[in-house]
Amino acid sequence: MEVRVTSESALEYAGDALILGVAEGAAPTGVAAEVDRRLDGLVGRLIESGEIRGKQSEVTVLHTEGRLAASRLAVVGLGRPAEIDLFGLRRAMGTAARALRDRGAHRVGTLLHRQAPPGARPDRAARAVVEAAYVGLYRGGECKSTEESPAEMKELCVLGVPDEEIEAATAAVRSAAIAGEATNYARRLVNLPPNEVTPSRLAEEALEAGQRAGLEVEVLKPDQIESLGLGALLAVARGSEEPARLIVLRHRGAEGGPSIAFIGKGLTFDSGGLSIKPSEKMETMKLDMAGGAAVLAAMRAIGELEIGLDVMGIIPATENMPSGRAYRPGDVVTALGGKTIEIVSTDAEGRLILADALSYARQLGATHLIDVATLTGACIIALGHVAAGVMGNDGALVEAVLDAGEIVGERMWRLPLFPEYRGQLDSKIADIKNVGGRDAGTITGGWFLREFVGDNAWVHLDIAGTAWSEKDEPHQVEGGTGASTRTLIALAERMAGGMT
Ligand code: BES
Ligand code: MN
Ligand code: ZN
Repeated sequence: MEVRVTSESALEYAGDALILGVAEGAAPTGVAAEVDRRLDGLVGRLIESGEIRGKQSEVTVLHTEGRLAASRLAVVGLGRPAEIDLFGLRRAMGTAARALRDRGAHRVGTLLHRQAPPGARPDRAARAVVEAAYVGLYRGGECKSTEESPAEMKELCVLGVPDEEIEAATAAVRSAAIAGEATNYARRLVNLPPNEVTPSRLAEEALEAGQRAGLEVEVLKPDQIESLGLGALLAVARGSEEPARLIVLRHRGAEGGPSIAFIGKGLTFDSGGLSIKPSEKMETMKLDMAGGAAVLAAMRAIGELEIGLDVMGIIPATENMPSGRAYRPGDVVTALGGKTIEIVSTDAEGRLILADALSYARQLGATHLIDVATLTGACIIALGHVAAGVMGNDGALVEAVLDAGEIVGERMWRLPLFPEYRGQLDSKIADIKNVGGRDAGTITGGWFLREFVGDNAWVHLDIAGTAWSEKDEPHQVEGGTGASTRTLIALAERMAGGMT
């Protein structure tokens, strides 16, 4: 898809369709009123008659029959006027893009970015609609053998941008297109089945992403992982026939500045190991590499955007399987750096592989650590499928992550790492145990990781609830969501000083 930003008027855009938003219970105003005048007030009459209600996810497609340069007008609901924000604008854009694509529109112009609430920055509104179009247009169905070639959207035109805003909007949209594609790449990796996306396949993907985006990529195999001393990662990998990989991607965008590490949980299938999961809970456990997919996709985008910052991506990749060789509840394992860990449950494996990856990132010289993981079912109990849990040891870095999430439309909520929670991880036999009981399970997961970050600034994102969407929605299909891919990209852009 080609994405363009232009000052061209929406009234003159001669594409297949124009997208316009209407709020609930409100007559068209501003640009919407202008468009409606050209249609002799048709939209206004449909609103009065109750056929267009302006509710979220409602799309009405009208034929303009020559009264606008575009052949069709898609009127999409924005919800109640007081509640319109950039999150809602994204839903509206995703919904409209899908509806138009499925009706065969190839060239589509949008006015939605001009319908953001007062106070929203125009470049952020432009970013929002472009990212949302990419997310909306993703289809899924990765493994279907039928070879239909369905209609694709070819052009998205961000219309009516005033001259003084063109530069900022163009920069935002360039980044949005790459971030949108990266999001869909992460979704694809999550959706592909676990017999295809093994640790070695993830490593191949990383090598390919490195080629495409100019990243240095190093893939460590089990004997190297062992000689480096990543005992926690090795313990988790023991039960599986699939050899583990430690994937390291580097984007050297600046010398001498901070060095950011993104660390993603790459658990390509989580059976629970000997602490085996019941089958209903195992069904979707291919999603357990979603953090790794987000890191890989974000690194690819960061390379493509040539962001002026030193960034590394580290993905510990393994399966968690039961077998005669598997690690056991009761085992004590030694992590990189020498800390000993009592294994209470082999199903709390994510924190083990991340502990080693965090230590390894520090060995490689990272100053700031951001990890992303589908870490705890407890996070779904706390925040549902709406928001990711955010924890950290550095207020400024936590704020930077939350801000980045806000800009790219990913909801996140901070949870506290109060010192009182740490005691739940005290072990009688070792330095720490890998499970702190049911209470505050997301926070004790965070506390476990904190033990491996030393004095570095660190933030942990628990995406267990947001990595997977359980149903088709008007603005996006079910399955992997690419959660936190865009947040990582935006964070890097902001830390490099490239995005205000
Ligand atoms: N991968 C799971 C967490 C998860 C659950 C992600 C549901 C997405 C949806 C993780 O490895 C796990 O099994 N966590 C345990 C931790 C417990 C043993 C302390 C959990 O949440 O039950
Ligand atoms: Mn598990
Ligand atoms: Zn897991």
